[in-house]
Amino acid sequence: MVELLCQHCNYRWDYHGETRFYATCPRCRYKVRIPGEAARRVRLKRLRKNMEREAGDEKKTARLIGVAAIVKGVVEEYSRDRSMMIQVLLRLQKSFGWLPRDVLTEASKQLKVPLSHVYQIATFYKVFSLAPRGRHLIRVCMGTSCKVRGAEQILEQIQGLLKIESGETTPDGNFSLETTKCLGCCGPGPVMTVDGKYYVNLKPAEAKLVLRRYVR
Ligand code: FES
Repeated sequence: MVELLCQHCNYRWDYHGETRFYATCPRCRYKVRIPGEAARRVRLKRLRKNMEREAGDEKKTARLIGVAAIVKGVVEEYSRDRSMMIQVLLRLQKSFGWLPRDVLTEASKQLKVPLSHVYQIATFYKVFSLAPRGRHLIRVCMGTSCKVRGAEQILEQIQGLLKIESGETTPDGNFSLETTKCLGCCGPGPVMTVDGKYYVNLKPAEAKLVLRRYVR
């Protein structure tokens, strides 16, 4: 920051911009020359910004190389077979916790299928997530059988406790909440899973006890 004085209207102001030689007076739009020391500071500021940008680019490149290597490993495990796309995406989701855009792009490149097709699959199946998930994934079954046994109250109880809606993640990143149509064990409903572990015959008060086990 440097203090500048406009020779045209005598207005003084603190300059935070990035131009090296001239600044525009905010009052009269007159071009004011930035003095030598000020120009040096502006230059330093710009240099620092460039260095930060380059460091960011390097980080990005390193991540892309890492992503490419992981995707390659998974794709080769399935012999680059395009018909195994769902399995490939499941494995990638397990590795990354979710499916970021650069991972899907890399999978599309390595399997030689259009990116739109990869997205079709990733958005069609509820098991895939295109947004970061919390450390613990809660799935509440809202299938007919669980619904008639009180799944809605379980869901309401969990939403109230975590203060999130279905499809959201708690601000501390500990829980993500999802609903599903059927978890495949309709008899002892209502059912919910936490990180794949089944909890059956649930009562709303029990849901609270279950969640307590996963609080950090
Ligand atoms: S309806 Fe809930 S497990 Fe099938």
